Amino acid sequence: MEGRYPETRLRRLRKNDNLRRLVRETRISLDQLVMPYFVRDGRNIREPIDSMPGQFRYSPDVLLEELQVLEEAGVRAVLLFGIPEAKDSSAFGAWDADGIIQKTCREIKKRFQDLLVMTDVCLCAYTEHGHCGVLDTNGCVDNDMTLQILQKTALSHAEAGSDIVAPSGMMDGVVHTIRQCLDQNQFHDTPIMSYSAKYASSFYGPFRDAAHSAPAFGDRKTYQMDPANIKEAMREIALDIAEGADIVMIKPGLPYLDVIREASTTYPVPVAAYAVSGEYSMVKAAAEKGYLDERKVMFEMMTSLARAGAQIFITYFAKNIALSKDTPEAAQVLALH
Ligand code: PBG
Repeated sequence: MEGRYPETRLRRLRKNDNLRRLVRETRISLDQLVMPYFVRDGRNIREPIDSMPGQFRYSPDVLLEELQVLEEAGVRAVLLFGIPEAKDSSAFGAWDADGIIQKTCREIKKRFQDLLVMTDVCLCAYTEHGHCGVLDTNGCVDNDMTLQILQKTALSHAEAGSDIVAPSGMMDGVVHTIRQCLDQNQFHDTPIMSYSAKYASSFYGPFRDAAHSAPAFGDRKTYQMDPANIKEAMREIALDIAEGADIVMIKPGLPYLDVIREASTTYPVPVAAYAVSGEYSMVKAAAEKGYLDERKVMFEMMTSLARAGAQIFITYFAKNIALSKDTPEAAQVLALH
């Protein structure tokens, strides 16, 4: 058979490592990684998150030590989630100038001028009922009242030193509202990364345990997207761009590669993929049982997000990827290796 169908011998380009590297279409770089962190009040705290092995809730002082390690490993961006001491119906902790995120941003900026600090702008961890907005008298999330609180929250983050604000609550009009507020307060140069296509996904389960943000009643289906829809995701993204989003995000990542692909070919803005808590924890759980190789799977997942068209990867594996940069698995995927 050899030589009979020469045009079909794709294996010619796969026969050794250097050839495979020569023709590889997708590579990722540490520059594209964003590491999420959960931060809580207190001192000297590094509390393991049961549902996310290897992840912790940090008090600000310990987070600073962790960021030193992260930065030395080569990760340049973080996304912060706050866990407040007290919750209430107005989500005061979210926009309090001395709230956990605001305090932490100020501390980080004193020590790490170059680290890119992104902050999640949402109310679910700050409301006693755990929904992403405040409720009207019928117990439904009141979109427009929530916008008022979200703009105060985003402004307080920017004032505390956040480099990029990231509204994640899927409220209509949130990007416009935040952009207007930032501009009116001289934060013209603070970009907005919008969680534009955020699906009502069960892959967020471990996160809600981590951030103590599970809704006390009902679910998030009235504001997050139906996993069955992709055209609607394109509408969400188009609206966010029109409202002033600088970066758009698709979330979760791996189960929504088609959405990432469609968004990245349709819109001329950077597309971020959020590989969410469930994506992380299922790999950790399987690896702990010896069912799969964590490091190989981690790199394969990132490659898939990149191949689909994502340019930014928000992942709980970010630190681990950077710490693994000199391994043979990394050599296959990482740029400049
Ligand atoms: C807050 C928010 C959530 C996540 C990011 N921001 C939880 C949710 O919507 O329930 C999930 C992230 C993850 O699962 O890693 N709205």
